[in-house]
Amino acid sequence: MKGIILAGGLGTRLYPATVPVPKCLLPIYDRPMIFFPLSTLLQANVRDILIITTRRDREAFMRLLGDGSDLGIRISYAVQDVPRGIADAFLIGEEFIGGDDVILILGDNIFHSRTIESSLKESIADNEGATVFGIDVPDPERFGVIDFDENFNVISIEEKPAVPKSNTAAVGLYIYDGNVSEHAKTLKPSPRGELEITDLNNIYLRDGKLKARQLDGDSVWFDAGTHESLLSASVFVYNIEQAGGKISCPEKIALEKGYITPDKLKEIVCDKKSSYYVRIRCECGIR
Ligand code: TTP
Repeated sequence: MKGIILAGGLGTRLYPATVPVPKCLLPIYDRPMIFFPLSTLLQANVRDILIITTRRDREAFMRLLGDGSDLGIRISYAVQDVPRGIADAFLIGEEFIGGDDVILILGDNIFHSRTIESSLKESIADNEGATVFGIDVPDPERFGVIDFDENFNVISIEEKPAVPKSNTAAVGLYIYDGNVSEHAKTLKPSPRGELEITDLNNIYLRDGKLKARQLDGDSVWFDAGTHESLLSASVFVYNIEQAGGKISCPEKIALEKGYITPDKLKEIVCDKKSSYYVRIRCECGIR
């Protein structure tokens, strides 16, 4: 299983903050946003990850995460010169995917749930084509809405429907089989000039191979693409970590999963004074 984080795009809804800094490196509370989708992939046991960025920003991502060896994983990088749409990830990433199954997460999508780890692992094991993830929201008309039957076969996904067929909003997390790049090659740009993920999903839907997976009722999801959602996500993370342990820390997950040793973690955190690393040090018992 391969993983892709799509972290390019223009970030125009976050101007002027994204003029000097790419959206996915803006902070959510005390760490760069990309730590969250990266943590989600680590929770899914994915250790071979491609990060797609703009040409301008690739260096900055590499400076932060390097080749992934500090986390006991493999991170590679690819460039998307023009934001040609989410499904473009499977053309850019074709060689990286190499016919394996792949999980794609949008770089500005933040998930928190007690059950996400088991839900992701089950979905990966059960995937027989493509799997889209959904979460129930009070205002589905603002999102892509997934309609599915009692066996979780998708019946339709409609973009911002006036009359939603369900309350389940599609989130920026998808699993595909090894045919995804071949399918992506058949897509034509939409009227807005993008290779649409919905068109790709519709290919799987037509073949009867598109499943929906609902995230639990206690799950929290942010698409941190606006100033308001960026702030809400920061406040959420701050509050939850004030009440309990730190969440979505790649270093902590890598230790828990045995990808790195306590000595390696010590090497990463010991000389760093920021409260992020101090907390990890305390929580992981590193002196
Ligand atoms: P969006 O939020 O739809 O796009 P954006 O980041 O360019 O922001 P804005 O609408 O404010 O201009 O994208 C969601 C995520 O997917 C985000 O992390 C960027 C990424 N993305 C790409 O990397 N390439 C693309 O072609 C698209 C459409 C999105």
